[in-house]
Amino acid sequence: MNRLARLGLVVVCAMSGVSTVTAQDADPLKSAVETRQSLLKLINWSFAPVGLMLKNKVPVDAAAAQKSAARLKQLATFLPDVFAVDTHKATASTKAREGIWTNLSDFASKADDLQKAAAALEEAARGGDKAATITAARAVGVTCGGCHKAYKDD
Ligand code: HEC
Repeated sequence: MNRLARLGLVVVCAMSGVSTVTAQDADPLKSAVETRQSLLKLINWSFAPVGLMLKNKVPVDAAAAQKSAARLKQLATFLPDVFAVDTHKATASTKAREGIWTNLSDFASKADDLQKAAAALEEAARGGDKAATITAARAVGVTCGGCHKAYKDD
């Protein structure tokens, strides 16, 4: 990279850094809500191929399920951290219930349920057995619902 290009990169990085800090300073609670909703969108996106298999809309594909599971296993570990900030006074629109911040350890254990179910799905799918893959996939879906029932408005 020549010197001018490198300088340009430094300037661009510095500018984006500044704007991120400003946005967060403006409303840290809103930013916390947006960050966790982004994580849940990503969790949903990662689960989607498995969801289609569960609804019989696509054939069971163990390799695809294994890939989804590996992603969910990692993403689940972010959940307690992105919910650490108590945002019940946030102005941003959110479906998170206030109970999360009085039951943080239970909330974290529900995130752990997802993490473990995803690990089990990854293992089942690795074996290539379609019936075992679907059974484990259903169990992952149950953990989504388990947390939503307790901590998310409809
Ligand atoms: C440990 C708790 C927990 C687990 C596990 C969990 N969720 Fe959620 N989810 C929430 C909460 C709380 C919200 C509401 C967040 C908000 O509005 O600020 C949410 C929101 C969502 C949203 C809406 C995101 C948006 O704002 O657009 C989707 C989609 C979603 N979850 C899908 C899933 C799927 C699929 C799974 C399982 C693979 C899952 N969730 C597992 C707690 C959880």
